[in-house]
Amino acid sequence: MTDGTIPLTVDGRPIEARPGQTILEAAEAAGIYIPRLCWLQGLSPSGSCRVCTVRVNGRPQAACTQPAAPGMVVENDTEELRALRRDLIDMLFVEGNHFCMFCEKSGNCELQALAYRFGITAPKYPFLFPQRELDATHPDLLIDRNRCILCGRCARASRELDGKALFGFTGRGPNRRLAVGAAAGLGATAADAADRAMAACPTGALLAKRVGYAVPVGRRRYDQAPIGSEVARPAGGE
Ligand code: FES
Repeated sequence: MTDGTIPLTVDGRPIEARPGQTILEAAEAAGIYIPRLCWLQGLSPSGSCRVCTVRVNGRPQAACTQPAAPGMVVENDTEELRALRRDLIDMLFVEGNHFCMFCEKSGNCELQALAYRFGITAPKYPFLFPQRELDATHPDLLIDRNRCILCGRCARASRELDGKALFGFTGRGPNRRLAVGAAAGLGATAADAADRAMAACPTGALLAKRVGYAVPVGRRRYDQAPIGSEVARPAGGE
C-alpha cells in the first residue's frame, strides 16, 4: 500500500483500489463486474436497489456505496448472491407492469438485460398489477410509471448533471411514485429531450417520443452481449 493503493480481494482475486473508490468501482477497474441497477457512472450512488450486494468479510454490503478498504475480502459471484440478485430483479418485475415485448426500450433496457443475465424467464412471484399513471404532457417526452423501478437515476441526473432537479418521489411503500415538479405534468417543466436525466433511465419509464423501435431487433444494445460484458464476460450460464 506504499503507493497509496488499497489491496483487497474479490472472489479470491487480489485487486487494488484507489483511495476514494467504492468496491464496485475498484472491481470494475480490475475487470470484475458487480451487477448494479441504481448506480450509474457519473452520478452519486444511492444504494437503493441492492442489486450490487456483496459480502464483505462475511457481511452483506452495497458495493456501490461501500468504500474499498485494505484487506477486505469481498464475495461477489457466489450462488447465494446470484440468487439474491435474481430475487430482487424478479420483485422489480412483479411490482410494476413490464411488458417487454411491447416496450420501446426492449433490447436496451437494463432491467430486462439483468433478467436475461440471471436466467429469469418468468417471474416466480405473483404480479401485483399496480395502477400507475402515464404522463404524455410533454411534446417530446413520455413518462410511463408502469416501467419505473424507483431507482432515482433520473432524479440524480437531473439535479447533478442537468442542474434542473425536475424529478422526485411521492408516496410511500407500494404507493411510491416518480413525481415531476409541476402539477400539470412534465410538459409544464423545463424538461428537454437532450437532458441527461432522460438517458439515465435504465428502463422504458422515461422515453423520447417518435423514436421507438428505431433500432431493429438483433442490433439493440443487449442483443449481442449480456449486460456487464463491457466489464467482464459472464462465466457459464449466468
Ligand atoms: S447499484 Fe448498488 S444499491 Fe443499487
